[in-house]
Amino acid sequence: MSRLVVIVLNIFAGLACCSFTLAVEMPDLAKKNECINCHAINERIVGPAWMDVSKKYLNDPMAEERLMVRVSKGSSGFFGLIHMPANDPDGIKQVEMRALVRFVLGLAKSDKAGTEQNNAN
Ligand code: HEC
Repeated sequence: MSRLVVIVLNIFAGLACCSFTLAVEMPDLAKKNECINCHAINERIVGPAWMDVSKKYLNDPMAEERLMVRVSKGSSGFFGLIHMPANDPDGIKQVEMRALVRFVLGLAKSDKAGTEQNNAN
């Protein structure tokens, strides 16, 4: 086997190793729409951790529509004093915004399921 092949195989082995150790990652849509400049799953950056957002709206059946408006047009006053700028002011990326809002809202649900399972043990 040539040295190059060995190196390439090692790189793949390295990638395979680490993608398993990461917990929930920011989705590609969040990278593309630059949400990651201000948000992470479990920690506050400029904006609140998405897990905290998700927990806040866990029992709110209207949350998806509420957050669609705020993510698209901008938001302030719900998590502090910093304002979130509009991410889709012209309404041309509503499909992507909805996918992201659903992703955020789903975080606490899967977390809760995990906790309940742990409690059962
Ligand atoms: C420039 C920084 C910034 C960017 C970029 C950004 N956010 Fe935010 N986001 C914030 C801040 C600050 C808040 C808290 C606003 C508040 O207190 O109402 C927030 C709040 C939120 C909330 C909770 C809103 C509420 O009313 O409870 C959601 C959901 C959210 N962001 C999703 C997103 C998504 C999805 C994107 C990418 C499309 C994004 N954010 C991009 C800064 C940002």
